[in-house]
This record gives sequence, C-alpha cells and structure tokens, in this order.
Amino acid sequence: MNKNLTPKFGIQNEVNIPGDKSITHRAIILGAIADGITKITGALVSDDCLATINCFRQMGVEITQNGDCLRISGVGLRGLKKPAKPLYVGNSGTTMRLLAGLLAAQSFDAVLDGDESIRRRPMGRVAQPLAAMGAAVSTKEGLAPIAVSPCPHLTGMDYKMPMPSAQVKSAILLAGLYANGATRVIEQHAGLTRNHTELMMAQFGANVTTDKNIITIHPARRLAAQNLIIPADISSAAFFLPLVMLLGKKLTIKNVGINPTRTGILDAFAAMGGCFEITNRRISCGEPVGNITISHSKLKGIDVDAALAARMIDEIPIFAAAACFAEGTTTIRGAGELRFKETDRLAALTAELGKLGADITPTDDGFVIQGSKLGQPKQTPVLRGYGDHRIVMALAIAATLAGIPFEIDDASCVKTSFPDFFETLDCISPL
Ligand code: S3P
Repeated sequence: MNKNLTPKFGIQNEVNIPGDKSITHRAIILGAIADGITKITGALVSDDCLATINCFRQMGVEITQNGDCLRISGVGLRGLKKPAKPLYVGNSGTTMRLLAGLLAAQSFDAVLDGDESIRRRPMGRVAQPLAAMGAAVSTKEGLAPIAVSPCPHLTGMDYKMPMPSAQVKSAILLAGLYANGATRVIEQHAGLTRNHTELMMAQFGANVTTDKNIITIHPARRLAAQNLIIPADISSAAFFLPLVMLLGKKLTIKNVGINPTRTGILDAFAAMGGCFEITNRRISCGEPVGNITISHSKLKGIDVDAALAARMIDEIPIFAAAACFAEGTTTIRGAGELRFKETDRLAALTAELGKLGADITPTDDGFVIQGSKLGQPKQTPVLRGYGDHRIVMALAIAATLAGIPFEIDDASCVKTSFPDFFETLDCISPL
C-alpha cells in the first residue's frame, strides 16, 4: 500500500492506543502452556501477535478471538502437539526467538520460519545459548529458519548475555522452565532490557526471581491460567508525544504500560523539556500502568547514553524524528542493536529523515542530530519505509510536524504493531 499523507488534524483530545505487543506475545505463550483457560483483554491483535496465535493453533492450542479479547485453552507445559508444517512467524522477531526457547524443550521436531526480513536477522544469538543448555537447535548459518529437535533434557546454566536483548533473555527463561536445575541469565549491559517475561511468568505461578541484573528461573511443574488485562503499548503511544508537545495543546492516553524498563522515552522527553503528567498510577497484572497527559512544550537537544538507549530501544525512531525539531544538538549512543531490527534502523532513519531535510549524521552506534525545522523539499518526498512499522510511523510524524505532504512506499506494515495508526493520527487535535 502506498500512503499519501497530507497532514491534517482531527478533533479528539483523548485516544486509545492498542495493547502492548511484547506483553501480548508473552500472555499468549504462557496462556498456551498453562493449565486452564487464560482470558486476555486489551490484547494487541496485530500481524506480529497473530503470528504467535497461529503458531500455537498449529500446535493444537485452541485460541478464540473477539475484538481485543482472547480466550486460550491452555494445554499445560507438556501438551503442545507437533506442528504439521513449519511454524511461520511472518515479520515477528519476538515470536521466532521466544518460540525457539520454548520449542527447544518439547518432545517433537519443529521448524520456525518467517518473511524475508526475519530471514536476515541474527538467530545465532538464541540458538547458541539454547545449544549450551543441551538443546538440538540449528540455524542456517546463524539465520532463520531455525530447526529444533527433541533432546533428552535441558540443563540449567548461567548465561551472561553478550548483547542487551529481551528476546534472547526470554528464550532462555522459557527453556529454563523445562530444564534440570536453575537457569540464570545475567544482563551485563548498561540499562536492563524489558522484564515482561519475568513479570508474566511470576503471574502464572513460575518460580522466577530477579536480583539486580541476574534473573533466575527454576523448572516448573505447572503454570496456572490467568485473567489478564494488557496495558496500552508505550512504544505506540510514543509517536504522539512529540506531535502533541510540538504542535498541540493537550492529549491524554489512558492505561499505558509504564514499566521502568520501557519508559526511557519518557525520561528522554522530560530531559528535553517535554511536558507530560502521569496520573492514576497503578499495577495491573504485575505491570505498572498510568494515564499520560501530554502538553505543549519546547524541546531542546540532549545526549542519550547506552543505558537510556536500552530502555527506549524501540522508540529511537520517533525520538530521532523529534530531535530534528528540538533546539540544539541531540546525540544518541549505545544503540547499535538498531542495526538488527526489522531493518537497519540507523541507516533507514539517516536516509529518510535526510530526505525530509534533517541534519542527521549516523555514528557506529547512534546519531548526531542538529535540530532545526525540517526543510521544505521542492517536491513531495517519496519516502521508503523498508517494511518497518516503526520507521513508517516515525516518518509520518516527522512529515506531519514539518507540514510536508509525503508519499511512503509501504505504509501497510504499520499493521505489525499499530493497525489503526493512520486513523489515530487523523483524529488527534493538537491545535
Ligand atoms: C522485544 C524485545 C526487543 C524489542 C522488540 C520486542 C520483546 O528486541 O526491540 O521490539 O518483546 O522481547 P531485542 O530483544 O532484540 O532487543
């Protein structure tokens, strides 16, 4: 789908943002291997999460969907069935890596495969630690497809993570549910990665503990089905923060997940001078949640270090877009993981924000951005989204802020995480 976007603003000052993608994946996975019926409200029903649902359906789990509600008939830790054909994860790295960990412990063969973009992303990072636990996992020279065969037993281990990745950590923890003895994952990088797997496992009754940067999972005998309410995804809410701050008056986004491992983007905007207030803070299903009200603000450039970058890794595209409109220089360091996302996001942002007139220089692990108003290109810029949902949405916000009509090659990929993004953008009233 080619999207022609002429910036315009609607009339609402409150929006609904869909459920958190990371938490929805985990709720489906743990619901599928729990005993009993798990009911999920506020689930993200996007392509990525549908991929996870379909994989479990192929393994004999009954999952019904009604709007954003899911009902999962859990089959228990040992009740999954051998899938008749390769499990197709589409574009979803979370599905592929987390399921690799889960499948490593099952008593059947399975193959995980996905689209072209997934087939370019590194999978050795999960295969290698799983093999160290005794799993029979193979990749195609470190890339998908991943093939998993049954192994007699997995052995718990201590694993120092060579890169900051919640997906790798989660794959090991899922395998650890089935291992002999405790499995410890040690996070070695500045800034801890998202801890939704740990919180959700505890919710389902697993014995999982966190001591600073060390997460320990003990083997489980059973998990107990849950009723879960998924918070709105801060990664999706993030697109509207700079839009409202820079152009608008006020916008409230309700029930947003504000887990500290995910709120680096709020800290970054606060440091830039962005105004927002969080009210009605509460804990829902083990996850901190609140309402965020964003107000008109002036933004100034800041330095983002590796620890902060880790806590806002998925929000760096929209943050980079916002930094183009801030006063002064913004630098982002320690974000080299962006090269391994749905596309090389450092390269994509440099090229495409550049087409909108941004002054952005890539570094090995980040950018230097000189803030100013984006230039007014002579012609409607034709932007590339690289099939990456967060690149498309960040570019749409940048062009909207600049008041530049633009064309983007493949806007339909927003359905990966935020199917109604363009409709939501149209109905926000920043003026
Ligand atoms: C995710 C972890 C992060 C993030 C991705 C979702 C998860 O990836 O970028 O969008 O749900 O665990 P990495 O584990 O590769 O850092």
